[in-house]
Amino acid sequence: MKFFIDTANLEEIKEANDLGVLDGVTTNPSLMAKEGITGTDNIMKHYVAICNIVDGDVSAEVIATDYEGIIREGMILAELHENIVVKVPMIKDGIKALKYFSERGVRTNCTLVFSAGQALLAAKAGATYVSPFLGRLDDISADGLALIEEIRLIYDNYGYETQILAASIRHAMHIVDCAKIGADVATCPLKPILQLLNHPLTDSGLAQFLADYKKGNS
Ligand code: G3P
Repeated sequence: MKFFIDTANLEEIKEANDLGVLDGVTTNPSLMAKEGITGTDNIMKHYVAICNIVDGDVSAEVIATDYEGIIREGMILAELHENIVVKVPMIKDGIKALKYFSERGVRTNCTLVFSAGQALLAAKAGATYVSPFLGRLDDISADGLALIEEIRLIYDNYGYETQILAASIRHAMHIVDCAKIGADVATCPLKPILQLLNHPLTDSGLAQFLADYKKGNS
């Protein structure tokens, strides 16, 4: 399974990249705003800065919601850097745009997906990635993991090549559950990735090993 980091924070991206397990980055307009990145020029420069850190796919989201606008913005984003994947919202004009991009070899990520039907449409339109938001479904007492399972089943039934990019991940168990289901990618902030390190028996076992070494070597 690929690990993407879901942030526009360059320090977090560098830290995750230094771990050696990072395969890419996802961003969205809220994450860019959180870092205080505003204005088209600054936003474009920030995408390039991210691409220069990580050797992998970097999702950059369009702001337009009409077909022509999505195409225009998407082509500008795609030309910024070879790592850029154009992130397109799950709306009618977004589906049309996904088809346009896929026919021209522009990689895409269909975002804000909350149902299996939406994921089916994204695959038919040729999306490279589909982003079901599992945490936001859990937040409203729906079953986010069940959605990932449904999408896996449907894509496997028909051999769709669209990769399932499990998004809105809240904690380490979400990552593990997505891996068990067979999601192709998990994207999340740095914290859930670091949580994967933790086990109390690792900590106590290491403390014991070091204490025993000290006893024999002092
Ligand atoms: O970037 C898309 C998604 O991962 C957002 O997650 O935490 O805002 O629900 P979150």
